[in-house]
Amino acid sequence: MRRIYLDYNASTPIDPAVAAAMKPFLADHFGNPSSGHWAADAAKAALERARGQIAALLGCEGDEVVFTSGGSEANNLALKGAYFARRESGDHIITTRIEHPAIIEPCRFLERLAAPITYLPVDKFGRVDPDDLNRAITPRTILISIMHANNEVGTIQPIEECARIAREHGALFHTDAAQSAGKIATDVNGLGVDLLSIAGHKLYAPKGVGVLFVRRGVMLEPLIHGAGHESGRRAGTESAMLAAGLGQACELARDLTSIDRVRVLRDDFWHGLQEGFGNRIALNGHPADRLPNTLNVSFINCVGAEILKGLEGVAASTGSACHAGRIELSPVLQAMGVAPETGMGAIRFSLGRGTTREEIDAVAENLSRLPQLH
Ligand SMILES: Cc1ncc(COP(=O)(O)O)c(C=O)c1O
Repeated sequence: MRRIYLDYNASTPIDPAVAAAMKPFLADHFGNPSSGHWAADAAKAALERARGQIAALLGCEGDEVVFTSGGSEANNLALKGAYFARRESGDHIITTRIEHPAIIEPCRFLERLAAPITYLPVDKFGRVDPDDLNRAITPRTILISIMHANNEVGTIQPIEECARIAREHGALFHTDAAQSAGKIATDVNGLGVDLLSIAGHKLYAPKGVGVLFVRRGVMLEPLIHGAGHESGRRAGTESAMLAAGLGQACELARDLTSIDRVRVLRDDFWHGLQEGFGNRIALNGHPADRLPNTLNVSFINCVGAEILKGLEGVAASTGSACHAGRIELSPVLQAMGVAPETGMGAIRFSLGRGTTREEIDAVAENLSRLPQLH
């Protein structure tokens, strides 16, 4: 059985340069970066270097980078941190119906504390309408959180416009860039955001590390109270090893030219499938404003999980789950209004640096031979 990995939106392998940057901290440099003696020096320097590398990717300052345990913690810190810091002046939060659970669930938690939350709808491509955002804002709106690009279908949101609307109304703007960092530009000033989350393992760094960009002057209540690490914004001794890895990954991610090759492979894959299957398949997500590595395709009247079972050795994801014998579409496909007979056959193929043309051709060939698709 040949193994082909097409699930880079779920996680990426650690880049060899990232592993090399981390290795000295496994072997030699064990010191606590907060200590005042020689044993801290290497760790302290690594943290500051990593902050600079991450800041260079995001177009921000090193002191605006807060290390977290990943994308989920960064999102939780943005939402709960803003709510607890600002609830004197308001409590209303606006987000969308297509966010990752790492946004939806903290919102549900805040709803249990009586925070009113608005979940904006999306169109059939998975895009938010900035006019809907404008209409949803109230004098009590403190925070707007809209993901940069969707993890399932790859649709990119009009963040610049939404962030401008937030600014006009004095609300903070957060974007979850876990999927977009390293695939498209994520310059915080270009986007106009106050808060932005990234997740290491989506951009060839390890799991268990992420960053929340916090614009200077934005106050957040920490989630983790303790000693004054991360300028009082997140307690806990920082891992110089994980920071060094994420820093190196961000340095590599600044060069977006390699993604052009991935985009070509992704588009050729789609065109090949269109030739073979015609109107028996449908594209989920925006045809143009979409992550360059993501192809979410529906095999109409088929079941995604069964197709994947037939594609032995291919790692990819489905957009539906089977609950009590019933196929249930993902909340993202539901919010896009995808019909059940289309959505149940959705498969997300997500490509990455390691993907080859040969692999794409092999998957296309295997799909064309599957009996259930004839
Ligand atoms: C859009 C998005 N946000 C947040 C996360 C969570 O990141 P982490 O796994 O680092 O907690 C993910 C991971 O699947 C994601 O795709």
